[in-house]
Amino acid sequence: MQDWLLKYSQLSQRQQKPLFFKSIPVKKMKLKELESCLQEVDVFEEPKLLLEQYPTRPHIAACMLYTIHNTFDDIENKLVADLGCGCGVLSVGAAVLGAGLCVGFDIDKDALEIFSSNVEQFELPNIDMIQCDVCLLQSDRFSKRFDTVIMNPPFGTKHNKGMDMQFLRTALDMATGVVYSLHKTSTREHIQKKADDWKVKMEVIAELRYDLPASYKFHKKKSVDIEVDFIRFSMK
Ligand SMILES: C[S@@+](CC[C@H](N)C(=O)[O-])C[C@H]1O[C@@H](n2cnc3c(N)ncnc32)[C@H](O)[C@@H]1O
Repeated sequence: MQDWLLKYSQLSQRQQKPLFFKSIPVKKMKLKELESCLQEVDVFEEPKLLLEQYPTRPHIAACMLYTIHNTFDDIENKLVADLGCGCGVLSVGAAVLGAGLCVGFDIDKDALEIFSSNVEQFELPNIDMIQCDVCLLQSDRFSKRFDTVIMNPPFGTKHNKGMDMQFLRTALDMATGVVYSLHKTSTREHIQKKADDWKVKMEVIAELRYDLPASYKFHKKKSVDIEVDFIRFSMK
């Protein structure tokens, strides 16, 4: 058994809960409590624009995770993967809500160093991380290994067109159950077609306004608001 799968099975047997939050039963954690906890997660020190390193804001991250947990029960005691985990706001939230184990995947060593210090700060035993290029993940290694995949993928706007769909294809290969992801609303029709081709059910759970940092000197504003869909994909 892979090391991290072993860790998962040991954790599930012991029903270990995050130490830091063990006094709050996970089902009872309020949205506001989750959001204020996620405000403590450190983010990118020097974001790399080509890797689309902008963190999910605590409010959006909390709303996503709260819904995944309370409406769909797809976090507690589940094996969760977070693709393009960055500094770990989604992973930390999933772990706090009682994931059996949450494994973050990211290409960037600097981001994973911050991820690691966040995990230490929160004293979370149910988090692990893997440095890799998500687009090159060998499909047999992680295929159908996770109950739930969560992600805020690169949108493919930085000379990396199609990156969002590569992340989605990988996520669907890795999950046995469901994938939760953020995508630009302007790509909804295209994603729906792909979901139909892949025989996956797609449900837009929420439409969000998302502020992306402006990336070029000629951009006048510091950030631009774009419309983003929060989508749930499940196997038909
Ligand atoms: C929009 S950020 C999201 C970060 C984090 N999940 C969050 O919600 O705050 C996208 C992340 O994808 C990572 N990334 C970009 N290309 C990648 C690739 N090919 N493989 C793995 N991670 C990648 C970036 O380093 C970055 O951390």
